[in-house]
Amino acid sequence: MMRGYVVQLWLVLLVLVLGVEAFPWTELHLPPEHIAIFFNNNPTVAEECRKSSSCPYKMHLDRAACWGYEDGCTAEHSYSQPSCPGDAKGWVQTKQEQISTFIEQGDFGYIKTQRNQLQVYCQPEGEEDSSLECTDHLQFCRGKNIYIDFRPLKHRKEIVHYHMDVLEMGQIGGHCRLNKELLGKNAVLISPLQSWGPEMRFFTEQEEPVQPGRKMCDRWVNTPTFIMKLDATVNMYHHFCDFFNLYTSQHLNNSHESAFSRNTQILIWETLPYRSNFGVVFDAFTKTPVWTLNHVAGERVCFKDVVFPLLPRMIFGLYYNTPIIWGCEKSGLFHAFSRHILHRLGVAGRSQGDGTIHITLLSRNTEFRRVLNEAQLIKALRSDKKFIVRKAEYSHRMDFRQQLRQDQWTDVFIGMHGAGLTHLLFLPDWAVIFELYNCFDPNCYKDLARLRGIKYITWENSTLLKPEDEGKHPDGGAHEKFTNYEFDVDEFMRLVRVGAEHVRKHRGWQNLHHHLPPSHHHQEL
Ligand SMILES: *[C@@H]1O[C@H](CO)[C@@H](O)[C@H](O)[C@H]1NC(C)=O
Ligand SMILES: *[C@@H]1O[C@H](CO)[C@@H](O)[C@H](O)[C@H]1NC(C)=O
Repeated sequence: MMRGYVVQLWLVLLVLVLGVEAFPWTELHLPPEHIAIFFNNNPTVAEECRKSSSCPYKMHLDRAACWGYEDGCTAEHSYSQPSCPGDAKGWVQTKQEQISTFIEQGDFGYIKTQRNQLQVYCQPEGEEDSSLECTDHLQFCRGKNIYIDFRPLKHRKEIVHYHMDVLEMGQIGGHCRLNKELLGKNAVLISPLQSWGPEMRFFTEQEEPVQPGRKMCDRWVNTPTFIMKLDATVNMYHHFCDFFNLYTSQHLNNSHESAFSRNTQILIWETLPYRSNFGVVFDAFTKTPVWTLNHVAGERVCFKDVVFPLLPRMIFGLYYNTPIIWGCEKSGLFHAFSRHILHRLGVAGRSQGDGTIHITLLSRNTEFRRVLNEAQLIKALRSDKKFIVRKAEYSHRMDFRQQLRQDQWTDVFIGMHGAGLTHLLFLPDWAVIFELYNCFDPNCYKDLARLRGIKYITWENSTLLKPEDEGKHPDGGAHEKFTNYEFDVDEFMRLVRVGAEHVRKHRGWQNLHHHLPPSHHHQEL
């Protein structure tokens, strides 16, 4: 009798031990410097790591570190450490104001603002109910047990792409109490990539609870889902704006241990089949192939957990066309994005230097904005023994991961104005981006470089630059972006040396050289 009782007790304990699922450490897959912050945001996981013998991250426990948007996150411990060496040009009065403006515009402060805006739009009244929360103007929403009717989509003839009429009244909703006034007030940005207004304006209360097994749900999606409206898939600058907003949205929704989990489903709000040279970047966000609307057309789909992320063309959104206060650089959010993508795609950084400056020159094989005397420039670079030069031709034929490895190899990245310069996001922290000529679009990549926190240089003297002709815009008329250029070799080399000097002085680059004997070290620095 007694013995049987003891056996039962052991069984109960065994079930308890096995039943409590251990945290999947191998799936955490965050850059090492992000793990301490992850622990501080998820104290129960941190406790589990402390107690577990299999947790490989014990060295990241008990370190004061936070992203920047958490309550009580001080500037000292924040991942964001922007610097504002330049003048604010009258935008604000004090240095402190300049720094905080930068943080709010282009760093984790931007996430904090969005998090503070979250309001309940549809209130659950019971355990099994739906819910909907959104930020102002429906720029971001998240919902539980959300119903979407994709049946009419099946009968559409045209390809759905930037359409605002995918849904009609009643085709989206949940079993919850809808605040119609709040929804009406916020459904004002009716433009495809500025808000979820075009979709959410049709949100209605459902009579039946949205639950698995209900007749109203032809398909039940249990996996947490991100529904995305994409800007562009062929252009690196624009498509990375999509990925960047997906990442920022994970921060916005960061309140639980699976906030950066890859056990997710991505649904692209188009019927165009998804194809992109940059498609591998989705591997950083999900383990499963992305869906488009084709996967759900004809069905009523119910989502257990769905996020409608921030969009790539929001007014004052990031990073397209966004005004950023003068004089500041180095956004922690952009740094974290870069590290997150590189880490998840398995692109390792350089661990040792060889004393030389690694230069990548991005060659364009397009009709316009080619460098006419490219061979001459490369020859000049190669004549300097302190430089190692690679000419890169990034096209769909080159695996994108390989391109990212090349970025990590690079100290000075040189290229003409064009989306390829978006590679600057993935250069090492000490790197320099040299936009050969900005074609009268001076702020686009300069601002992106500032946000990423790397040095930007560009052509300074227009008399030392020869356009092939005045440029021929497809719609007629002259245009700087539609011609090719020849660059003065000496001036080119002067600017490259300015860049190389910046690299040599940077602590990050110097740290790569600690293994070199001091004499060599000295000579190279
Ligand atoms: C978003 O956040 C909510 C609330 O913490 C959470 O329940 C949900 O799983 C999150 N969704 C995703 C897709 O991460
Ligand atoms: C630009 O280069 C020309 C030719 O070398 C020189 O005469 C001129 O002073 C330069 N302009 C500036 C602003 O440096």
